Amino acid sequence: MEIEFTDITKMYGKKCAVDNVNLTLESGIYGLIGANGSGKSTLIKMLAGLLKPTSGKITLDGKDICAMGAAYRSKLGYLPQDFGFYPDFSAYDFLRYLCAVKGIGGSLAEERCKKVLYIADLYTVKDQKIKTFSGGMRQRLGIAQALLNDPSILIIDEPTSGLDPRERIRFRNKLGEMAAGKIIFYATHIISDISYLADRILIMKDGKIASKHVTSDELLAEAEGTVWLMNVKRSELPGIQSKFNVSGILPLEGDYLRIRIVSDVIPRLDAVSGSPDLEDVYMRFFGEVSEYADADKV
Ligand SMILES: Nc1ncnc2c1ncn2[C@@H]1O[C@H](COP(=O)(O)OP(=O)(O)OP(=O)(O)O)[C@@H](O)[C@H]1O
Ligand SMILES: [Mg+2]
Repeated sequence: MEIEFTDITKMYGKKCAVDNVNLTLESGIYGLIGANGSGKSTLIKMLAGLLKPTSGKITLDGKDICAMGAAYRSKLGYLPQDFGFYPDFSAYDFLRYLCAVKGIGGSLAEERCKKVLYIADLYTVKDQKIKTFSGGMRQRLGIAQALLNDPSILIIDEPTSGLDPRERIRFRNKLGEMAAGKIIFYATHIISDISYLADRILIMKDGKIASKHVTSDELLAEAEGTVWLMNVKRSELPGIQSKFNVSGILPLEGDYLRIRIVSDVIPRLDAVSGSPDLEDVYMRFFGEVSEYADADKV
């Protein structure tokens, strides 16, 4: 199975949301990371066949996905970023309803609903109303619905609403368990999630894929020599921040701070080299701290 994006561009009026993306996907987990507005959801909607590219084409094993229509959709599971639940439905009724929408009927529908409820660890709460579910349970239900048709291509556009670390790990592990033989394409702006999970990381910036098909180890190796630690006076910080990307600040005794800087050149002669982590990589690409940057890692 191979999906190929050729010269994919999407314009919203004059706004170019996805800019000439070329990409090949084979089975495995792909993590698409990028800041808000970088074009992840737009790219994903085109992959899901819901949005037509302004130009370029996406093919599955050589066939244009737009021309494939239902034959493509039958292979596809999709969890949109803004997935709407019916709060008064139970999880089971909700999935049965979606089976009907997807044209899965009778005993097969019952079998599939049970199966995906097990996979998502929701079987024991299947008769509870969705409005009683936590954010993590809802996200797992979102995955469950995407799996109803036993898809070989699973596309997840992560909701921006945060999950607690325990639920994040659980969600991540679920995806890992299901990955065999599938293409999983997972968009997020939380780098730590995909660093554990993804076989390949794609970094999206301003509608372009800035870095593609690298593993997290390769990203880290590339960032070697770009992280610096140094002690500075509190009063020096604003000046340093105006010149460099500061990815961590730790207060020390008295008037001093230990700071972590991401820079391709040594920021000051007394700076010592540190080992990069994926937050630093993110900082290097986007010049901002990602949501889960850890302030006390310096
Ligand atoms: N329907 C639309 N009409 C006009 N502009 C849009 C539309 N959808 C998205 N955009 C713009 O296209 C760009 C890319 O948006 P997109 O939703 O793909 O980003 P994203 O990477 O998914 O962001 P986020 O992390 O916030 O989900 C943004 O500038 C956005 O404002
Ligand atoms: Mg989005």
